[in-house]
Amino acid sequence: MRKIPTNSGPSPRKAELPLDLSGPHITASAASQHRLYQALCHAIVGGLVKPGEPLPPSRMLARQTGFRRNAVTTAYERLIADGFAEATVGSGTFVASRIPARAADARQRKIEIAPPQHTPFALGCTHIDERALQNFRAFAGRRLRTFGPEHLHYGDPRGTRELRAAIADHLIAARGLRCDPDQIMLASGTLHALRIVLSAILKPGDQIWCEDPGYPAARRAFEHCGYRPAPVPVDASGLQVAKGRATAPTARAAYVTPSHQFPLGVQMSMPRRLELLDWAREADAFIFEDDYDSEFRYDGAPLLSLAGIDHLRRVIYMGTFSKTLFPGLRIGYCALPERLVGPVTAARAALDRFPGTLLEGAVADMLNSGAFAANLRKARKRYREARDALAATLTDASDGRLTVPVPSQGLHLVARLDPATDPAVAAQAKAAASVEGWLLAETYSRARPLPGFVLGFSGHPIPHLVRAAQGLAKETLVALRTGRKVPKAARL
Ligand SMILES: Cc1ncc(COP(=O)(O)O)c(C=O)c1O
Repeated sequence: MRKIPTNSGPSPRKAELPLDLSGPHITASAASQHRLYQALCHAIVGGLVKPGEPLPPSRMLARQTGFRRNAVTTAYERLIADGFAEATVGSGTFVASRIPARAADARQRKIEIAPPQHTPFALGCTHIDERALQNFRAFAGRRLRTFGPEHLHYGDPRGTRELRAAIADHLIAARGLRCDPDQIMLASGTLHALRIVLSAILKPGDQIWCEDPGYPAARRAFEHCGYRPAPVPVDASGLQVAKGRATAPTARAAYVTPSHQFPLGVQMSMPRRLELLDWAREADAFIFEDDYDSEFRYDGAPLLSLAGIDHLRRVIYMGTFSKTLFPGLRIGYCALPERLVGPVTAARAALDRFPGTLLEGAVADMLNSGAFAANLRKARKRYREARDALAATLTDASDGRLTVPVPSQGLHLVARLDPATDPAVAAQAKAAASVEGWLLAETYSRARPLPGFVLGFSGHPIPHLVRAAQGLAKETLVALRTGRKVPKAARL
C-alpha cells in the first residue's frame, strides 16, 4: 500500500476540523472510511477548509471523530485519488490547490425535474382493467419462474421473435396489415423506434414533414437529432399534401397520424392518403405512420392504414403498448418495409444493441391468450363514458362557449374557443383552473394557433374529470369576460 503522509510535519492543522458526519450528504449505511470521505468532501466543497490549507494529522482526526486511524488514512487516500487533496511526504495532507470543478459546481446546482402529473386532464394516462392486471402479473410471474438461457445472452436487435409474431397477428386482425414478424422491430416506445429508423435512413439536416398542429414530442425528437421539421398545415382531410409539396418539396420523410390526427382528431381522407403516397414515391421519401390510438375506435371502422394501402413499401407503421396496456412497459414497435430491415437492424445494434427481453414474453402471452383483447373491450367502454362525460360537462358548464367535437377515436379531445378569441384567454383559464392537459396553441409550429385546450380523458375517474371540467369551464368564462379579441384581419 502507498505510504500516506500523516501531517506530522512542520505545519499541521491546529484546530479541529468542523466535520458534519450525519447530514444528507452522508450515506448512513456506508463504511466508516466512506462516511468520513463524504464529510471531508462536503467540508472542502463547502469552503470550510480552503484550497492549500492543511488537513489534520490522521491521529488527531481519528481522535476527533472516534473513527479508527486506518479509516482516516483510507479516506485521505481517496481524497488524494479524486483530486480533493494533495500529499507532500514529510509535510502532510493539504486541500488541493484546485478542487475538481464537477464537485465544486454540485454545491450550487440543484437539479429539479418536475415529475409528470397524473391529475385531470393529463394526456397519456391509462386504466388497465383489474382482471387484465392479474393476467399480466401471472404471465410475468410464470416467465420469471421459467427464466431460460435465452435471456442470458445478447438477443436479436429487433426483440424476441415470439412477441414480434404476436404483434404481426394483432396487426392483421386489428388493422388488416399483413407483415412478416421479421419486419417488426420492438423499441421502448414510439419516439425510440422513430429515432432508430430515422438514424438509418436520414442524414442530419434532412427535412421531415410534420403535421401543424402536431405531436410536439415527435417534433422535438427530430430537432434533437439534427433533422429539420417542416410544418405542413392540417385541414379536415388531414395533412395538406399540396402545401407540403410547395413549402418543402425535397423533404426526405413525413411523420403523420392519419387514423386520428394529433391533436385535432381528423381522419386523413382516402384521396389525401393516396396523394401523400404519390408524393413519397415521387420524392423517394418515407412516411412514418404513427397509429398511436387506433385500438380505441368508438364509432365506425377506421380507414385502411397507410401501410396497408402501400403494402409496407414506403410506409413505416408505428404502434405502442403505452395506451393499450400501460406506459411503464416501455414497449412500442414498428413494421418496416423489407428493404429497411437490414439497415434499421444495424442502426439498432449500434445504438443500444437490443431491447430487454424479460417482459416481452408476458406481453406475447397477453396478446396470444385473448387477455389483451378483453382488456381493450373494457377500456374502450370506460373511455367512451369518460369522453362523453367530459364533452357534455365542458359544453354545459361553459354555456356553449367551448366547442367540443366528440372524437370517434382516441384518449383525448379538443375543446375550442371562438377563433376570434385571443389564445391568451385559454392560457389564463387553464392556469386559473390549475389543470393538466395542453393548450391547443402548444401543438402548433407555424400555423396561427386556434384558441383552446387538448384534454386527456383516459385513466382519470369520471367524477374527477367532471369536477375539473366544471372548473376549467368556469375559469374560461371568467377569462372571456376579461380577455381580448383578435382583430378580424389576423384571424385564420
Ligand atoms: C401522437 C402520439 N404518438 C405516440 C405516443 C406514444 O408514445 P410512446 O410509445 O413513446 O409511449 C403518444 C403518447 O401520448 C402520442 O400522443
